[in-house]
Amino acid sequence: MTIQTHQASELINNGFMSSSELKSYRVDQELAKFFSAYEVEKKPIEVNFRDLVDWVPYSDSYTHYIHSYPAKLIKHIPIFFLNSKILLPESKSLVLDPFCGSGTVLLESLLAGHSAIGCDANPLARLIARVKTTRLEAKELHRTKASIMLKARRLRKVIPLNVVNIEHWFSKNTIKQLSQLYRSINEICTGEELEFFLATFSSIVKKVSYADPNLSVPVKIKPEKYVNIDIKERMSNKLLELKNIDVISLFGNQVDKNTNRISLLEKVSSYDVTANVVSEDARRITKSLDNSAELLEPNSVDFIVTSPPYAGAQKYIRSSSLSLGWLGLCEEKSLRDYEKLNIGREHYSKSEYVESIRFGLADIDTFFDEVEKENPLRAHINSNYLKEMESAISEMYRVLKKDKYCVIVIGNNEVCGRKFETQKYIRLLAERLGFSTKLVLVDDIHSRGLMTKRNKTASIINSEWILVFKK
Ligand SMILES: C[S@@+](CC[C@H](N)C(=O)[O-])C[C@H]1O[C@@H](n2cnc3c(N)ncnc32)[C@H](O)[C@@H]1O
Repeated sequence: MTIQTHQASELINNGFMSSSELKSYRVDQELAKFFSAYEVEKKPIEVNFRDLVDWVPYSDSYTHYIHSYPAKLIKHIPIFFLNSKILLPESKSLVLDPFCGSGTVLLESLLAGHSAIGCDANPLARLIARVKTTRLEAKELHRTKASIMLKARRLRKVIPLNVVNIEHWFSKNTIKQLSQLYRSINEICTGEELEFFLATFSSIVKKVSYADPNLSVPVKIKPEKYVNIDIKERMSNKLLELKNIDVISLFGNQVDKNTNRISLLEKVSSYDVTANVVSEDARRITKSLDNSAELLEPNSVDFIVTSPPYAGAQKYIRSSSLSLGWLGLCEEKSLRDYEKLNIGREHYSKSEYVESIRFGLADIDTFFDEVEKENPLRAHINSNYLKEMESAISEMYRVLKKDKYCVIVIGNNEVCGRKFETQKYIRLLAERLGFSTKLVLVDDIHSRGLMTKRNKTASIINSEWILVFKK
């Protein structure tokens, strides 16, 4: 029997089921249907995750909007799986997201009463993920905010950080105020509080820069580029306002918003742990971020849910570059150094792709044989992406417990006018590594960052493929 939304509230009100039991019941009803259909047909099933978890709002909830991040996963997908008793029979399980980005999966795992660990190559993502999942006292945050703002306004001598092309991106007035805030935050705060204020500081950096807010990678606003008169005028006004913007007050407002978000975590009774970001590379999952940390034990994770990068489509480091500079993260490492760790990167020197990468799988190899004739760089970008994804999947297999599940959310792509069936290739590689495919779902994408302008050889990705594997 399927329980409808109106019957659900009756069951809860009459004390027959708790709301979390009811959510699990509804999810498992659907999941059981999908599993049986897939077992018979072996065909992808079209779904709409927003309908499957219709109790979840579309908009902001908890700390999800503490900081923007490109290609965030819609929270409905992890919520669906994390509420399943078929996939996670124990109430306190360890969930891993090896490409955790801004921490959508980590936060939802904690909200569902589990504990969570993540990895990400982007230090900004790691900071946001930690802040998003850490409970802090609102009262303390308000007090500290007042001290930071007071001190920032009083600071006279401030040295701006090593931000590439700083005067191209910020007005003199903005550079001064951002420098005052950065120094004040670092002098006043420590530990988790420091991370909260730095993440909030970072969340306003792009807003006070000359970077076009409609594009995820920084490109200076050019009003003349807009055909629409209203947008053209809005952009010209924005450029003027940015010259004398009150950055410190804007920071104060953003702290208030983020403090409200953080305070919602206090109300969740099952939320008693913090998520750990344990590694900067999904291909080497360690116990902690420490450089000398040991590998995470094999067979230690109960569930994996992740949305890995796409080949050649996301520019995570470039889109975070202004924040990385202002957070002092480009002092020792350059953006190029950060990029090298990124699966799906696009920059390779000729010497890096003299040798072709092949997989011993006809479907994949024939594709690359064709592309290589036309565009060796594109062939390398995509074949190296698959090779690196293969080692990340092998690492997922290593740390996952036997009989447990791994959910990978991925989309197809286009390379040199040909369809690059990422989901199919990932499936072939995962199966070769020992996973069995239990379910394939497809959902239309309604919103994604970084999907604006892309070059001719890669086209818009319009569906999410949800691959459910079992070890
Ligand atoms: C699609 S995004 C994940 C978004 C995330 N689910 C969220 O909601 O914010 C993919 C992430 O993979 C990260 N990434 C790329 N290469 C990586 C690697 N070698 N190890 C770990 N993370 C990596 C990128 O930095 C990016 O944050």
